[in-house]
Amino acid sequence: MSNIVIVGSQWGDEGKGKIVDLVTERFDVVARYQGGHNAGHTVSIQGKKYILHLIPSGILHPGKLCVIGNGVVLDPFAFQEELKTLQNSGISIQNRVFVSNRAHLIMPYHRAIDAAEEQRRGAEKIGTTARGIGPCYEDKMARRGIRVADLFFPDLLRAKVRANVEFKNRLFKHIYQLPPMDADEISDTYLAQAQALAAFVTDTAEFLSRIIHEGRSILFEGAQGTLLDVDHGTYPFVTSSNATAGGACTGTGVGPRHIDGVIGIAKAYTTRVGGGPFPTELHDPVGRHIQQKGTEFGSSTGRPRRCGWFDAVVVRYATLINQVDTLVITKLDVLDELDEIQICVGYRYRGRVLDCFPTEISVLDEVEPVCEKWPGWKTDTSRIHHYEELPRQAREYLDRISQLIGTDISIISTGPNRAETIVLEQSPRLQQWFSPQS
Ligand code: IMP
Repeated sequence: MSNIVIVGSQWGDEGKGKIVDLVTERFDVVARYQGGHNAGHTVSIQGKKYILHLIPSGILHPGKLCVIGNGVVLDPFAFQEELKTLQNSGISIQNRVFVSNRAHLIMPYHRAIDAAEEQRRGAEKIGTTARGIGPCYEDKMARRGIRVADLFFPDLLRAKVRANVEFKNRLFKHIYQLPPMDADEISDTYLAQAQALAAFVTDTAEFLSRIIHEGRSILFEGAQGTLLDVDHGTYPFVTSSNATAGGACTGTGVGPRHIDGVIGIAKAYTTRVGGGPFPTELHDPVGRHIQQKGTEFGSSTGRPRRCGWFDAVVVRYATLINQVDTLVITKLDVLDELDEIQICVGYRYRGRVLDCFPTEISVLDEVEPVCEKWPGWKTDTSRIHHYEELPRQAREYLDRISQLIGTDISIISTGPNRAETIVLEQSPRLQQWFSPQS
């Protein structure tokens, strides 16, 4: 069986949740490898909407196992909330959710620093989700983080929390002008969670290794998107983890030789939440139409998403960084009513067209998108289930995207529900990965 990574090829919110949900039946385990409850995956099943932040959307499929890998940062309270919501919806979580004992814990001071840092940055703010994600990863890298495993060694946990709080309180007093926090109170509330968490915690790298050796398959579910990756994204307007396919290895402890392929997800247009450059952004009625029709409001924070044309420079770059084997295009139906649709095919910078995605934000801020104009199809695509039945203009639009990116398109999503999907069964990648012999 094949082990596959699903990654966002833009700035997140590409509709990965629906696609993970759609292909999960082909896998035994779904594993998250980075990020935390900053992510928001909306999945609609039989008209019922589920929003998942931490737990892989594979949980919505009876019998599938879900892993929260070591690369994820875990807020134990958000985790418990999500479990409760799932249970209240009648979804069984018993023996199905496995949390890495190496995952780092998001602490109350991380949330406070996240908000205070954003305020300090003023106009330069990143527009984070204020969940404490960045400060938690900072502590991880600074080697003072607190891990899930520490919850089961109370004295050790208390000592680590005390050392951290002593340091953070100095920051609060001298830099952020915030009231101090109480280390013992924090330790008490976290230790009180330990028992509830214990049933889920394990060495997930060992667990996944067993899964692989038993011939069972894993779907690695990326959160956020390539352009939000801390190394490869539009730094510093990024999240603090490796959202790209490489993160699947470091964030789960599964070696690269066990990964058989990468599916890149891209919307038929582009969106981004928070600050940072966005060359194809639309500040006009078309942008507002896309925002409304696509319900482009963050599933974690409710913030309106900025909307713009499909940017082939971005997706080509994401395809290179992740070595995407096949593309999934989502939300095609959002463009159904437009008279004309544009695709950005290059960036003009000071009179010349760039041939690589720029590293410097100042360059990206200044580039002018070079756009092609394509006629709209003016047809409701949401009820179409076969590629050949799509209007000619929609097929030409998708074919042009595929040509510009240099990758085949194997799935097209035309609405939030599972049924609103066109699967190109003849796609060589799908056949290779999902045939019974693979
Ligand atoms: P953080 O991950 O909360 O630190 O936020 C850093 C940047 O990533 C901000 O621009 C957020 O809006 C963005 N971001 C974080 N998570 C998501 C997501 O799931 N979808 C889209 N953008 C996200």
